[in-house]
Amino acid sequence: MSPANIACFNGALMPLEEISISPLDRGFVFGDGVYEVIPVYNGVMLRAREHFERLQRSMDEIRLANPYSVDEWIALAGRLLAHHPGNQSVYLQVTRGVPPKRDHVMPKGLKPTVFMMCQPLPSPSREQVDNGVACITANDFRWEKCNIKSISLLGNVIARQMAADADATECVMFRDGFLTEASASNVFAVKGSTVLAPPMDNLILLGITYQLLLDLARDGDVKLEVRKVSEAEVRAADELWLTSSTKEVLAITTLDGKPVGSGKPGPLFRRMHALYQDYKARIGRAAEVAA
Ligand code: PDD
Repeated sequence: MSPANIACFNGALMPLEEISISPLDRGFVFGDGVYEVIPVYNGVMLRAREHFERLQRSMDEIRLANPYSVDEWIALAGRLLAHHPGNQSVYLQVTRGVPPKRDHVMPKGLKPTVFMMCQPLPSPSREQVDNGVACITANDFRWEKCNIKSISLLGNVIARQMAADADATECVMFRDGFLTEASASNVFAVKGSTVLAPPMDNLILLGITYQLLLDLARDGDVKLEVRKVSEAEVRAADELWLTSSTKEVLAITTLDGKPVGSGKPGPLFRRMHALYQDYKARIGRAAEVAA
């Protein structure tokens, strides 16, 4: 028998198979909940505090009371990670809980449902890093509150499936002629020696990896402009990148079948990728020093 996959349900650790959730849960019936995905290197969460602060902002947006403080969340995730050594992604979601009946109005006094699990986190493959990935584009047909990390992901799921159908890694989206993000990643463009990043507004999820990349770029004296990026600028970009907790930073080398820039990952990508790998290695080493 394989060892139990330990997960966390409403604060208690238990085998994943033993967790059961009511069909009346508002997460199941309405997609009424929020989530986080946190990458873990050698047992240490990358920017844990920032992830749990974003969770708080998502919960504030949907008027859901947070059952735990940031420190309590970090401690709870730490207890789960003790069962999952190495590189992992922590997935957690909080829903509004189980009401007595189905009604759109948010019921008062419900106990939120909290679920957390781990999955092994493979690094992007050598081939993806060396050659980049293919992406398609679409009109951003999602809602106007993309800053909330909502478990209602149908728009993102449809966009991601459109990419999968085209054998592409991601679907890059435009709203009113400007770049927003991709179905499960943020997107950066490079023009000459300047990195262009779409503004952190309600039309994108403010990625923790996006923020980390901005920090690394500033520390590395890379020229940066955070501003609206037009579709024309994206299509004429010298480089395009995807960032997310699971993809790290990857170069987009074809967009809708056409090469991006030289068609190879560019020099600024290689620089940012190296800075990201250094950052990851520092996290892993911190774990060894603490042990
Ligand atoms: N997705 N934009 C969207 C729509 C996302 O779903 C994600 C992450 C990001 C990047 O955010 P971060 O850098 O904090 O991972 C941007 C996660 C990984 C997911 O849903 O699996």
